[in-house]
Amino acid sequence: MIVIYGGGAMGESLLAGLVRGGRDTADLAVCDRSAERARTLAERYGARQVEAEEGARSAEAVLLVVPPKAVPGLLDRIAPVLRPDCLVLSLAAGQPTGEVERALRPGTAVVRVMPNTAVEVGQGMCVLSGGRHAGPDRIAEACRLLGPLGDVVEIPEEQQDAATALAGSGPAYFYYVIEHLAAAGAALGLAPDAARRMAVAAASGAGGMLR
Ligand SMILES: NC(=O)c1ccc[n+]([C@@H]2O[C@H](COP(=O)([O-])OP(=O)(O)OC[C@H]3O[C@@H](n4cnc5c(N)ncnc54)[C@H](OP(=O)(O)O)[C@@H]3O)[C@@H](O)[C@H]2O)c1
Repeated sequence: MIVIYGGGAMGESLLAGLVRGGRDTADLAVCDRSAERARTLAERYGARQVEAEEGARSAEAVLLVVPPKAVPGLLDRIAPVLRPDCLVLSLAAGQPTGEVERALRPGTAVVRVMPNTAVEVGQGMCVLSGGRHAGPDRIAEACRLLGPLGDVVEIPEEQQDAATALAGSGPAYFYYVIEHLAAAGAALGLAPDAARRMAVAAASGAGGMLR
């Protein structure tokens, strides 16, 4: 079972992307501080809703998608019951793998991941870096898990801040350009909807040509 901790904007994008990518929903669970939010997501995507410790006991992989300041408290709860072979994917921006490792049983494999919201439509980017106990097999496992969400690139952990600016925030730059292209088209007399479609097609077409 894969447990997503944190059912906010990114947690939902990941859940939606994994379901869209063909992951068996019986294999997916969500845990949020708000039980109601977790229930809503579980119902929306056909996943299970779990309590923090319950999920950790049976998870093969956990995705930490809570705000960075909430990670230590969450790890305190799940570390004592987490399976020793569980793969821990930490998506909290700016949080080094060493900090996560220190809160877990020695030897636990931790992989830091910087995603972007386009994972929701299977065209995202996940930039990952392995911690001290994440060897090539665990990195390959992380790549298999994240692969259906889009592209996956492995980088040295010290480059994660740069990746956050480029990959994590990348779609926002294009939203801005698209918005202004569409507005320019509308100012030239195009119907706003047609102008927006042209701007979106230009961006996705350019991306497709460059792949
Ligand atoms: N959004 C992005 O584009 C993006 C990109 C890259 C990385 N990230 C990373 O992803 C993480 C989540 O970001 P987000 O934008 O999804 O934030 P968000 O919308 O605020 O969602 C975070 C969710 O986690 C819940 N939560 C807090 N503490 C928890 C706990 N101990 N156990 C379970 N759930 C808990 C929050 O509940 P409450 O609201 O009740 O506190 C909220 O539902 C962050 O670490 C961020 O750095 C986000």
